[in-house]
Amino acid sequence: MPVHTQDGQKQMAAARAVELVSSGMKLGLGTGSTAAYFVDLVAERARAGLEIVCVPTSEATRERAERQGLNVTTLDEVPRLDLTVDGADELDQELRLIKGGGGALLREKIVARASARMVVIADRSKLVTKLGAFPLPIEVVPFGLAATRIAIEEESLRLGLAGPIELRKDASGKIFHTDGGHFILDASFGAIPDPVALSSRLGDIPGVVEHGLFIGLARGAIVAGGDDLAILGSLD
Ligand code: A5P
Repeated sequence: MPVHTQDGQKQMAAARAVELVSSGMKLGLGTGSTAAYFVDLVAERARAGLEIVCVPTSEATRERAERQGLNVTTLDEVPRLDLTVDGADELDQELRLIKGGGGALLREKIVARASARMVVIADRSKLVTKLGAFPLPIEVVPFGLAATRIAIEEESLRLGLAGPIELRKDASGKIFHTDGGHFILDASFGAIPDPVALSSRLGDIPGVVEHGLFIGLARGAIVAGGDDLAILGSLD
């Protein structure tokens, strides 16, 4: 695939991440189109003899990994992982992320936290100077949805953030449900000057299960642009 296309760049980042995997590893598998390239490439190596056990971050990734013949388990069976490789909707130079465009943010965050190392793979379009152009996914319980939405509006306004907060729907117009049976509110705040403060305010709202700001979780990132790879942070 030509590397100047976005898909070519996703594949190039995924191929570099596969080099981080060695036999005996317990591996977290991310969700989304970039992570799917990683799943396919790591499965090719597993078919050639690489011995790994994998924990997927979504049902979609579980299905893909199983179809590819990977040895798939759960975080209950294997609660500590060596490495997780996942995509992102946005990342900044400090390795802070927005995730959840695919709706898997809760499992993605649990799996990332359970991993000794999380490495992000992305094409160049995901690297931003300030997080927030991508609407922030916030996973909420269905009970009290209207009250939770108001609480999110109030808390974000205290940080000077405002903008439409939309209940995610699927392609057929039905309310989107996460793998955990929750809803997602997509908050179009625009640039987020203090992601740490927003993370803490959102985390304190009853009804918010998790949000898509990943702070202090990624150790490194592989960002593919044109025909080069940039490494942010550390891959070790
Ligand atoms: C899934 O919930 C997300 O966090 C994905 O990691 C993110 O949306 C990136 O997806 P793509 O690789 O498809 O852009």
